[in-house]
Amino acid sequence: MALTNVFVVLLSTALAVLPFSPADAGVVGVSYGRLGNDLPGTASVVKLLKKSGITSVRLYDANSKVLKALANTGITVMVMLPNDKLAAAAADPSSARRWVRRNVAAYYPATQIHAVAVGNEVFEEAKNLTGQLVPAMSNVHDALVKLGLDGAVKVSTPIAFTALQESWPPSAGRFRDDIARSVMKPMIDFLERTGSYLTVNAYPFFAYAEEPDKISLDYALGNSNATGVRDPVTGLVYHSLLDAQLDATYFAMEKLGTSRSSARGPKSVAPAAHVSESGWPSGGKPKRGGRPRPRPRGGGRRLELEQAGGEAASVANAQAYNNYLIKRVLSGDTGTPYHPDADMDVYIFSLFNENQKGDGADDVEQHFGLFYPNRTKVYEFDFRGGALVASWCVANASAGDARLQAALEYACGHGADCGAIQPGAPCFEPDTRLAHASYAFNSYYQRNGRAKAACDFDGAAYVVYHEPAGTCDPNVSWCVANAAAGDARLLAALNYACANGADCGAIQPGGACFEPNTVVAHASYAFNSYYQRKGRGSGTCDFAGAGSVVYHAPKIIGKCVLPSKAWIQETTTVKSRGFKTSSV
Ligand SMILES: *[C@@H]1O[C@H](CO)[C@@H](O)[C@H](O)[C@H]1NC(C)=O
Ligand SMILES: *[C@@H]1O[C@H](CO)[C@@H](O)[C@H](O)[C@H]1NC(C)=O
Ligand SMILES: *[C@@H]1O[C@H](CO)[C@@H](O)[C@H](O)[C@H]1NC(C)=O
Ligand SMILES: *[C@@H]1O[C@H](CO)[C@@H](O)[C@H](O)[C@H]1NC(C)=O
Ligand SMILES: *[C@@H]1O[C@H](CO)[C@@H](O)[C@H](O)[C@H]1NC(C)=O
Repeated sequence: MALTNVFVVLLSTALAVLPFSPADAGVVGVSYGRLGNDLPGTASVVKLLKKSGITSVRLYDANSKVLKALANTGITVMVMLPNDKLAAAAADPSSARRWVRRNVAAYYPATQIHAVAVGNEVFEEAKNLTGQLVPAMSNVHDALVKLGLDGAVKVSTPIAFTALQESWPPSAGRFRDDIARSVMKPMIDFLERTGSYLTVNAYPFFAYAEEPDKISLDYALGNSNATGVRDPVTGLVYHSLLDAQLDATYFAMEKLGTSRSSARGPKSVAPAAHVSESGWPSGGKPKRGGRPRPRPRGGGRRLELEQAGGEAASVANAQAYNNYLIKRVLSGDTGTPYHPDADMDVYIFSLFNENQKGDGADDVEQHFGLFYPNRTKVYEFDFRGGALVASWCVANASAGDARLQAALEYACGHGADCGAIQPGAPCFEPDTRLAHASYAFNSYYQRNGRAKAACDFDGAAYVVYHEPAGTCDPNVSWCVANAAAGDARLLAALNYACANGADCGAIQPGGACFEPNTVVAHASYAFNSYYQRKGRGSGTCDFAGAGSVVYHAPKIIGKCVLPSKAWIQETTTVKSRGFKTSSV
């Protein structure tokens, strides 16, 4: 098959591949609460954030030391105007302006402040300020406009999930009557007008802890079975309680009939709902009178249920949930069943276990941290993705040749590395449209940070989480023996390789690669070892014509895997590398 003009971008009318920005999908950050008397100093916290690959933080104030320490780090910051400053900001525009000047403008842009939270859970924590909330948000926004910062810095207010009167099924989602028309409606109009977003503190943990008899733990943790839970009204199926909470919020917003949603139809996502806090405790027990809880639907059996809920606070569950959040956002899979294209920013609560929160050391409130105060991780997590979100984009054979070709041209014309699939290049073989499309789609996808939208190609591609067989990485290659060279030549070359630096221990009797005990299998093992150890230098896979370089992982023979790197003994699995992007 001849693939012509792969580099030429045709003005294809058959295919409308929408451009997208990788920033679209969402950002996963961490809430940096400081209610502890044993927390590390700000400089070492900033070091820890950088070392951990955390690129966004939410603060519960606008602490000057912290904002200075975050300068020139590239870490984006949501600052907060605390509840006790809210009445003044609402009553007096000049007070709001002073606050913005001192707490935002004074640090921006060296410190990448991108949002101001006006108050926190006002309906719960400062009920008497409910009426001042939207006026305060509006004054803070006006102050940002005056300072020319309204494009860069958005204004929102984290609401507790208890702002919803109903949340199940999601389609029944609606805000509490006392705030729906009076506060939420003007707030949502404000968010929409200013290009901002709603922020919700959403805790599947507390929902589960209230009703462990009705909610499956796996579903709360975000890894429900394939069946999921169906909203009987919309028929939408939920595999994650967080998604159900977000969709309940979207339905609640929609019921207020905000201007945009009526003009653009119910499916528009404006404003988006982001998650200003979510997390899972690694220990402790939920206590009454702590954080606002979702209203339980059942009654009775309280003690028994609380106990079951309490057991859900564990290291294993916290690790599962928070890694689920990280993976969701990093993989770009941020949409919900009702709004599949929605972006989602998430701040995981919280950076540290904080010993001055809640009601004593056995309160879950003190156990939400990703780190202990001594900066040791409470469990493993990875904000850089790594193996957690290794994923690949592959071409969908059913899309048909015309669509694959158009999408292939699009990818090659928009930054995919298509040099490797040109004739003579490492990934030209197998020379099929499907293989070349998969290569190009995947290159495009990896280079765009594995954003889900970068693997759409109008339905001609899809994401997989296991490395597809035959994935070609032009930077990884192996040396294998040519059976056609014949046993005598192979044996001579095998002896040469083993005598000149190849590791031949694994092909001795009893070694992991002794079986299959054939000259060609042993020669492949030795040739490859020699090749890898010599840095894949030119001529190191020649062996007088008995060896050849391949760019697709060789078939695993028995239990023997040919290493793709020098010195590393891989005997069970091929390491998945994907195509590295500079940010990974
Ligand atoms: C709101 O109530 C708190 C006490 O709960 C009080 O300290 C504060 O002054 C009140 N604020 C207003 C504006 O009424
Ligand atoms: C599947 O998950 C749903 C939701 O988490 C749960 O209600 C249901 O019982 C589970 N089904 C099975 C067979 O485990
Ligand atoms: C940090 O603190 C935790 C919890 O107290 C403890 O288990 C861990 O061993 C400490 N790590 C170091 C390095 O001191
Ligand atoms: C592949 O494409 C076909 C036809 O367009 C579609 O029905 C199918 O769902 C796609 N498969 C995947 C995994 O996206
Ligand atoms: C291969 O390696 C080169 C140099 O290290 C790098 O620039 C290039 O991006 C890599 N290509 C892939 C597909 O990883």
